[in-house]
Amino acid sequence: MPVFETESPEATIRLGERIARGLKPGAVVAFYGELGAGKTTMIKGFARGLGVREMVKSPSFVIITEYRGRIPVYHIDLYRIKSPAEFTEIGLESYLTGDGVCLIEWAERAESLLPPATTIRVKLQVLPAGRRIEIIGWSEGLAEELQ
Ligand SMILES: Nc1ncnc2c1ncn2[C@@H]1O[C@H](COP(=O)(O)OP(=O)(O)O)[C@@H](O)[C@H]1O
Ligand SMILES: [Mg+2]
Repeated sequence: MPVFETESPEATIRLGERIARGLKPGAVVAFYGELGAGKTTMIKGFARGLGVREMVKSPSFVIITEYRGRIPVYHIDLYRIKSPAEFTEIGLESYLTGDGVCLIEWAERAESLLPPATTIRVKLQVLPAGRRIEIIGWSEGLAEELQ
């Protein structure tokens, strides 16, 4: 599975942008990593690669923000989710099986709902200088192109 190291937020954004270009409707990208690891930063890049022109922000109270790209983009932040019952309230499953792309922060909170065939996992770790970014479940061919 490809592992990258980015030295700046911009490099993380560029990596996200390049990976996003190949995404198809129905893709789910699950982001893991502590607060400040760079999940939202990388999602900015994914949104850009999916043709979103709006500025993606860290949602403070909203759990799901929809953006219009070449396909619909759903930025989902599960940080404030307190119980699995809330997944039903926010209609999470319909987003996950819809025809947009779901970009999910704190994805471990909904692990059992992530569709196995269409989920890509992005694990971010803080390094002394930069970030280590591991990508799981994403086509190796495409990864080689990016190295
Ligand atoms: N290589 C890097 N990649 C991503 N973010 C970085 C990097 N180096 C420093 N940062 C900083 O780390 C912070 C990451 O914040 P954010 O993306 O909101 O994290 P999260 O959504 O995981 O809580 C930002 O302030 C960003 O500028
Ligand atoms: Mg965030």
